[in-house]
Amino acid sequence: MFGEFESARSRDRKSDLAARICSALRVHATIEEEIFYPAYLEATHDTEIHHEAEIEHEGAKRLIDEIESTGPDDDHFEARISVLQEMIRHHVKEEERSGGMFGKARASDMDLRALGRQLEERKLELKGESDEGGMQRMPPGGRSRGAGRDMRMRSH
Ligand SMILES: [Fe+2]
Repeated sequence: MFGEFESARSRDRKSDLAARICSALRVHATIEEEIFYPAYLEATHDTEIHHEAEIEHEGAKRLIDEIESTGPDDDHFEARISVLQEMIRHHVKEEERSGGMFGKARASDMDLRALGRQLEERKLELKGESDEGGMQRMPPGGRSRGAGRDMRMRSH
């Protein structure tokens, strides 16, 4: 979608793609934060990787909030999308690199199949909500449910 955004010319198309990018990323961040990250922390006690991933999510979500609340007429619209893309690229690389979060999760005793099902289920639920509500926003923090939330380490 980022690629489509870059090649899009019309303002409406850019606006539509930005909205779709933001809502997809928001869903992705929410399911990881509600389900995968707490399970990871519980299984590995790896606060370093876990916290860093959380902070990266916080940064991306702040930018998403700004993109959603300002829109394509804003002077910094394209810059925000572009920086968001860089942040996501970096974040995914961190998660997927060897010795990163996903590798460590696979090496742990986490039940990844069960987690995968939970993630998928929650994703469908959230997608349904955002389809109904258009640009409906997650509640602040967006983490009102999910197993293991008691051990969440908030970054602020
Ligand atoms: Fe993530």
